[in-house]
Amino acid sequence: MDQLCIHSTIVTISVLVVHLLLPFCRGQSRLIGSPQPVVAKVGDDVILTCHLEPAVDVATKTLEWTRSDLKPTYVYIWYAGQDYVNMKNPSYKGRTSLFTDELKHGNISLKLSNVKLADEGKYRCYIPDRNEESVIELVVGSVSSPGISLAGLDKSTNGVVLQCESKGWYPEPEVLWLDGEGNVLSAGPTETVRGPDDLYTVSSRVTVDKRHGHRFTCRVQQNNINQTRETHIHFLDDFFKVQSRSSATTVGLAVSLAVSIMLSVLLLLLLWKKNMSKRNQMDEVEPEDQNNDNAETELLTEDSQNETKQMGRHQAAASRSSSSLLPVVSIKRFHEEK
Ligand SMILES: *[C@@H]1O[C@H](CO)[C@@H](O)[C@H](O)[C@H]1NC(C)=O
Ligand SMILES: *[C@@H]1O[C@H](CO)[C@@H](O)[C@H](O)[C@H]1NC(C)=O
Repeated sequence: MDQLCIHSTIVTISVLVVHLLLPFCRGQSRLIGSPQPVVAKVGDDVILTCHLEPAVDVATKTLEWTRSDLKPTYVYIWYAGQDYVNMKNPSYKGRTSLFTDELKHGNISLKLSNVKLADEGKYRCYIPDRNEESVIELVVGSVSSPGISLAGLDKSTNGVVLQCESKGWYPEPEVLWLDGEGNVLSAGPTETVRGPDDLYTVSSRVTVDKRHGHRFTCRVQQNNINQTRETHIHFLDDFFKVQSRSSATTVGLAVSLAVSIMLSVLLLLLLWKKNMSKRNQMDEVEPEDQNNDNAETELLTEDSQNETKQMGRHQAAASRSSSSLLPVVSIKRFHEEK
């Protein structure tokens, strides 16, 4: 009884041992790379993972990373225990490395620094000794936050034309306008321009009026790289009221705006002169300036993505100073009249 039991245990153990060791004896470790495309943004550092399973120490082996569409094809070569730079494609010099401590665990993942658009492609990790390979696809994208500006007034509908522009995308993204409830608004066709750097600039215009609410979003998205950036614009409650009044008398408004701008300049000059002579009055001037700023920031609020907040704000600020001048001033004027 006991003997039978011991015997069967030995059989079990030896079967297990043979099962575990066999892959090593026959060199059956497989190279496993990321099955999904790896997505990186321009300027990122990215890791293309590739490892032997079960793990085998490969620190003393020759290891290759290649791209068959390049000449020379080598992205990285590990030869005689070091980075063999001479054979490397010049565009990868100084940008590729292995995790040398990982090699003893069969991990030959590649680190690629400062990703460029041209890095997009299929990478092969290869161990010549074992004739094992795996192919990993790298997809490269570039994104930026859109900026919204006020492009004009639509007399026929008492609406406002909003323009959204976003520079520096790859691949080509799509542009959507949404109202405050997240419904897609019908907009004009998206204009796309490809720059000398291969990046896309997209812009789109939409005409909105008070039926659409007060809050609008321009969303730029690229599904291949799973990236979305959006910027919101929020109108003051009485914006459309002002707008419909001013659109009826655009010429008159333009003239009165010019006059009011001139008056503002004069006023500022006077205040400045006063300041020069009486420092005490500075306190009265500053709150006034702040009020003006508030009117503008209420009109344009920045991008919702933390990552690119700065850029969104920057573009919003830029748009304020150009095409949006007219409506912004009209709002200010309205408040003054009130
Ligand atoms: C291989 O090393 C890289 C870099 O340290 C790491 O990100 C990856 O998870 C490792 N892969 C395995 C299977 O351990
Ligand atoms: C895209 O992003 C969403 C949410 O962040 C995620 O669930 C999804 O897996 C991503 N898809 C790809 C292809 O990366």
